[in-house]
Amino acid sequence: EKGGYDYFMLKEIAEQPEALESTMSGHLQDGRIVLDEQRLSDQDLRDVDKVFVVACGTAYHAGLIAKYAIEHWTRLPVEVELASEFRYRDPVLGRSTLVVAISQSGETADTLEAVRHAKDQKARVLAICNTNGAQIPRESDAVLYTHAGPEIGVASTKCFLAQIAAAYLVGLALAQALGTKYQDEVVREFTELEQIPAAVQTVLEQMEPVRELARSFASSDTVLFLGRHVGYPVALEGALKLKELAYIHAEGFAAGELKHGPIALIEDGLPVIIVMPSPTGRALLHSKMVSNIREIQARGATTIVIAEPDDEAAAAIADHLIPIPATPTLLQPLVSTVPLQVFAATVAQSRGYDVDKPRNLAKSVTVE
Ligand code: F6R
Repeated sequence: EKGGYDYFMLKEIAEQPEALESTMSGHLQDGRIVLDEQRLSDQDLRDVDKVFVVACGTAYHAGLIAKYAIEHWTRLPVEVELASEFRYRDPVLGRSTLVVAISQSGETADTLEAVRHAKDQKARVLAICNTNGAQIPRESDAVLYTHAGPEIGVASTKCFLAQIAAAYLVGLALAQALGTKYQDEVVREFTELEQIPAAVQTVLEQMEPVRELARSFASSDTVLFLGRHVGYPVALEGALKLKELAYIHAEGFAAGELKHGPIALIEDGLPVIIVMPSPTGRALLHSKMVSNIREIQARGATTIVIAEPDDEAAAAIADHLIPIPATPTLLQPLVSTVPLQVFAATVAQSRGYDVDKPRNLAKSVTVE
């Protein structure tokens, strides 16, 4: 059942290439993106003028990442909100609003109530869910299932990557319906997404140095994570994994925010994990991040930098380097998250914790 792994979570991390492949499989037919239970017509999609993504925890981070892609591809405004906040603040919703609810279990009470609130306000609701026939997909107008397979480990890993891929499919389906991208561009984006499972496999095969590094930082009291653009939600997810599994104080920041407060936390020897933007894809962001690394190193931080292989600046400056394959910027979270999952799991194991069952947490949060 654990397939030779000590924990389900480790098996689920290893299953991520398959989880992604199955989630994307069958969604390109005759040169067009197709969703699953398409109870929303192309006309419904064409009428959309605003997108909300609602979710909790790790699924919320998937939504934050998807926002970058959906806005870029569709030119629709996308707001991403914690389900528990969304429903209590009277959001502006109507028939032309698409609410995308992301939930692995499909039973999360906060997300379900957000869906009900959106439906009461006449919004269209599309669920991204990993559990067939769960309550959230049952109450939604349309469903896109992630096919990650059952996730037993309480901390979400393979479902997170599958949720990002599924939300990207929704973005491409919207771009296709709205005509904001030529059809051949939609197909090209999909084809690039199809290359990602192999890239994730490459990352998985290079994890031993990351485990060693994690063991050497296992007694840290605090670990900070920095990212920019799509790397920012990845930093939030890296921090969430570390706090929930290893019970270490961990925080993710947008690197540009450092000087607005968080840099005060930096002290001698503090480990900071940095998700480096692609040096070719986003050169400006990349050079800003190099400056951020210099600023925190000058104040004593020990930097662990996740970077693409041709990133000479990162290699020259990092105290520790974690290489990941080069990918288009919008797809980088699908590979850069993986070392952070492995890092958190290894720190937790070194501290003697059960990574499948972190204290105080439940797999499915069915109470508000
Ligand atoms: C963290 C984690 C949780 C869930 C959250 C939402 O590793 O697993 O933060 O992501 O409770 O759960 P679902 O996706 O079932 O709605």
